[in-house]
Parts: sequence; structure tokens; C-alpha cells
Amino acid sequence: MINHSTLAHAHPNIAFIKYWGNRNHELRLPSNGSISMNLASLETRTELKIIPEWSSDTLWLNNERQSGASLERVQKFLDIVRSKSHHNLFSEVRSENNFPHSAGIASSASGFAALTVAAVKEYGLNLSEKDQSRLARRGSGSACRSIPSGFVEWHAGTADEDSFSVSIAPSSHWELWDLIAIVDPGIKEYDSTTGHLLAETSQLQHARVMDSIRRLEICRKAILSKDFESLADIIELDSHMLHAVMMTSRPSLFYWSPISILVMKEVAAWRKKGIPAAYTLDAGPNVHVICTADSRAQLLPFIQEIPGVQKVIPSPVGEGAEVIH
Ligand code: DP6
Repeated sequence: MINHSTLAHAHPNIAFIKYWGNRNHELRLPSNGSISMNLASLETRTELKIIPEWSSDTLWLNNERQSGASLERVQKFLDIVRSKSHHNLFSEVRSENNFPHSAGIASSASGFAALTVAAVKEYGLNLSEKDQSRLARRGSGSACRSIPSGFVEWHAGTADEDSFSVSIAPSSHWELWDLIAIVDPGIKEYDSTTGHLLAETSQLQHARVMDSIRRLEICRKAILSKDFESLADIIELDSHMLHAVMMTSRPSLFYWSPISILVMKEVAAWRKKGIPAAYTLDAGPNVHVICTADSRAQLLPFIQEIPGVQKVIPSPVGEGAEVIH
């Protein structure tokens, strides 16, 4: 365990049915289940090295030494790893994303998924995929969906033991793409963790959660039967429901920019004309345009030409988190 390190990587994921709100914030037990696909083009690489003589962990993100909230979050996560491994040893964590922070793409999912597999290896834990997913969930909820490969469902569960993600179809099952329209690199006002705390202040959250079993079933079936129309309808509805809750929280969270709305309107118009494309938005203004492999080449220039779209990052479906060496 001494004098070597583990390098691991993981991809972020885009949720088709969203996670928003927790029944237990400390354990990150979500109010509802969710479904996502991993994004192969985007990646976090994390190297973890145990330094026996150290008395605290250090964190480097994209070659910048971290302090404050981001360091504390990683230290808290490594405390959980330490308690499972019975080793009271501290680590140096170096993490790099191949996508700019300013692109507004959340890196907590890929970050904590890569950290989980690196730490599990380095601290000598022998954990199944299910248990790695449970562990990643403690760092960031959506990270538990970046552990398995391809299309993934997070079973909300009722306790720490039964809240984890599984692959519902491998990446090769359906050649879907996410064309991420970067519309505004501005730092967002509220991060997801704060957003989850506010979900219950919206009168609409209860209705969104109560209807989630139905949406999950439609989405799961659409993926398994490769029914794009059905997938498109349900992911757009789910995104609207998420943002309705966000907008009606107290304080109100409003993540869309005028450009986000422009992209959504264009995508809806293209689908009416028969081009398979659908949109979904997370806690930010970027629009994820989900499309088939056939429609990708046609859509890419269309999206790039929308005024206000700064760039488009295309990504096919990705694998799960893995140790590199
Ligand atoms: C809108 O997983 O980023 O992207 O658990 O506090 O790290 P924490 O939150 P996070 O929330 C993701 C919210 C979302 C929807 C989703 O990915 O399901």
C-alpha cells in the first residue's frame, strides 16, 4: 500500500429521469429513482496516493490545490473509506477533467465515481459494483450512476443498503448521442447540493416524486425497445417537471438562459419535422440534445448555428468507472 498510487477514470452522466431532492441528505438517499446514460467523451482521471506520514488529505483539481468546501467534501468521503478499511491513513488526490469547469458541466458525478474506484483499490477494500455505487453515492448522488456502464438506473431504495445503481443496458445497446450545447459558461448561482435541500419548499415536488415510478417505467421501456419517440416525450416532460420544481422553490432557482429556451424550441421544431432529437437540462443553462447516430451529423451544424450557442460537445454512450493502473 506504500509508495504507489492508483489511477482511475470515470465519465459524467446525463439523467433522462432526474434525481432532485433527498429523503436523507446525509446519506444521499434520493426522493425518487433516476435513469441516465454515461458520456464517453467527457472524463475525469483521478490519482490517489496514500502518504503514511500525513495527518490530513490534500486535493488537487486540474493542477490547482484545493481548500475550503471542495477539499472538505473529499475529506469527508475519504473518512467513510477509512472507516470501512480500518486504515487511518491519509491521501493525496489529484483529479483532472478533460472538460473545462467553465463549460458548466457538473464534474461531481465523474469526480466521485473515479475517486471511489481509486480509493477502493488503494485502501484495499473488496467491493462489488453495487457496493462501489453505494459508496460513490455518499460523495455525490449522481456519482452512483457513473459506476456501472452504459444506460444506468439508480434504485432509490429505502436505506443505505438498497440505494444503488445498476446497468440496464450496455453502451453498445443503442447508439444514442448527447450533443451538449454550451450556452453560458457563467458560474451558476446555486449548486445541486443546495438545490436538493430546497426541493421540498416547492409545492410541486410531491407531485413530481409521486409520478416518478410511471416516468421511470416509460423511460426504461423506451431504452430497452429503442423507441426514440417515447424516450423523447418522457425526457422532455421529466426535464420540465424538474425545472418547474426548481423555479417554484423558495428561494426560486432559475437555471435557464434565453438561449436555453431558443435551443429547446428549435429541437422541438426539428422533431416535428421528423428528425430524432430531444432535449434535457440539468442544474444549469446548457442544453443536452439527445439524438440517434443517424441524426447526429445533420443536427450538429444546426445547433452550432443557433445564436448564443458557444460550442457543442458531442458524446456517445460511455462505460462505467474503472481503474486504469
Ligand atoms: C439536476 O448528484 O450533482 O443533475 O448529490 O449533491 O452531488 P449531489 O447532487 P448531484 O445532483 C444532480 C442533479 C441533476 C439531476 C441528475 O443528474 O439526476
